[in-house]
Amino acid sequence: MRARPSNLRAVSDETVTMDKIVALCKRRGFVLPASEIYGGIANTYDYGHYGTLMKNNVVNAWWRSMVQLRDDVVALDSAIIQHPRTWEASGHLQGFTDPLVQCLGKCKRRFRADHLREEAIARGEDPDALVCPVCGGELSEPRDFNLMFETAIGPVRDEGSTVYLRPETAQGIFLNFKSTLQFARKKPPFGIAQVGKSFRNEITPGNFVFRMLEFSQMEMEFFVPPAEAERWHEYWMRERMEWYTRLGIREDHLRLRAHDADELSHYSTATSDVEYLYPIGWQELEGIANRGDFDLRQHAEYSREKLEYFDSGTGERYVPHVIEPAAGVDRSMLSFLCDAYDEDQQGGEKRTVLKLHPALAPVKVAVLPLVRKDGQPEVAREIYETLRERMWAEYDEGGSIGKRYRRQDEIGTPYGITVDHQTLEDRTVTLRDRDTLEQVRVAIDELPAELEHRLAAPWRSPKPQRAAA
Ligand code: GAP
Repeated sequence: MRARPSNLRAVSDETVTMDKIVALCKRRGFVLPASEIYGGIANTYDYGHYGTLMKNNVVNAWWRSMVQLRDDVVALDSAIIQHPRTWEASGHLQGFTDPLVQCLGKCKRRFRADHLREEAIARGEDPDALVCPVCGGELSEPRDFNLMFETAIGPVRDEGSTVYLRPETAQGIFLNFKSTLQFARKKPPFGIAQVGKSFRNEITPGNFVFRMLEFSQMEMEFFVPPAEAERWHEYWMRERMEWYTRLGIREDHLRLRAHDADELSHYSTATSDVEYLYPIGWQELEGIANRGDFDLRQHAEYSREKLEYFDSGTGERYVPHVIEPAAGVDRSMLSFLCDAYDEDQQGGEKRTVLKLHPALAPVKVAVLPLVRKDGQPEVAREIYETLRERMWAEYDEGGSIGKRYRRQDEIGTPYGITVDHQTLEDRTVTLRDRDTLEQVRVAIDELPAELEHRLAAPWRSPKPQRAAA
């Protein structure tokens, strides 16, 4: 759940830096600081137009692979606020804490004690002789700080009214295990998948959308016969790694890292993190845990409901074990953006381009008249209006054609269509490929089929692997 930051010294050896990603996201309206007109709010971001479209694409790709293309997983959308006993049973009330230290010197800031220790070790310093990294002041003893956000139901705030914003979507799934078993007519092995917002009172700087107060998770709890747990854990590690590489993440920027025994969450018997090589180093992108029967047993005890599987064929009765691939939507977005970010030279000018998998690109095709006269805008709009029925398309007639292409490259649009003088003579247009910059002439009538064919084709990142970079 709260894995240690690993290998902080490893850095991605590329043109991409976190500052460039943050700047591009703001410039093009992917991700924006929340409440900016009031000076912003810590570790909180809004998704703008392109960010929202891309986020939907990430989530849809997850639903497709986790539910649509399978027979053994069903969907759920549970409440954010659940009965408070949920968090007693799950262990979050007692155990979902970070060790914090406060500066007793000038700046009075708070820090994660485990992060400071890890950084001291990385620098070759004594982790038991920590001082404030900002002002050098003495630090307090570490104190456990619970990450759950509290709120209250009803007009009077008393002990009985306290509820919590969920810190993970997983518990809503365990609470629905029994009802899902009944209506979905499934038997183990089967899974319940959910996407939604989770909330954590993170006090340390978040590195953009990597660590936020509210974020989206894509979690699936896969219930299996106890004897099959290890096999399914292996299976889901493979599946999830392949999901990222199928969507274009370069293999050498992705790795699986097994947790050491002292890192494991209270519920887990084994966890491996899918880690991505962000510009800030290797960091967790997704956790894949073997949760054993911890959650179902806890909720059975606290709710007094039987949470088990009874096989009427064999007469066997057991509490299933759970394998959980738990991914972050926002960290996935950040990985896809970092992996796609590239810079090159075109016609003596620097080009910034997002080489995103077409399935993730917010806009699939841009339609651009070469000039804003001679009937070109009318034909271009006609093409755009036909295409947008079938895919996310954009029409743009403002500014030079070069500038308009730069803009589309920066938002990762895989294809561009230019309407020019020849179009009005023979009803053909140029079709430009974002990655190869190859331009071919295509008849207007053939455009929808041609684009759909290209968008559905397998795609590999044209960016070099690390060893060759
Ligand atoms: N149910 C298990 C669970 O929640 P986790 O490792 O704490 O496990 C799963 O969270 C994923 O959620 C992480 O791998 C990460 O991608 C994402 N995540 C967790 N905390 C986050 C935060 N504060 N901001 C953004 N994403 C976060």
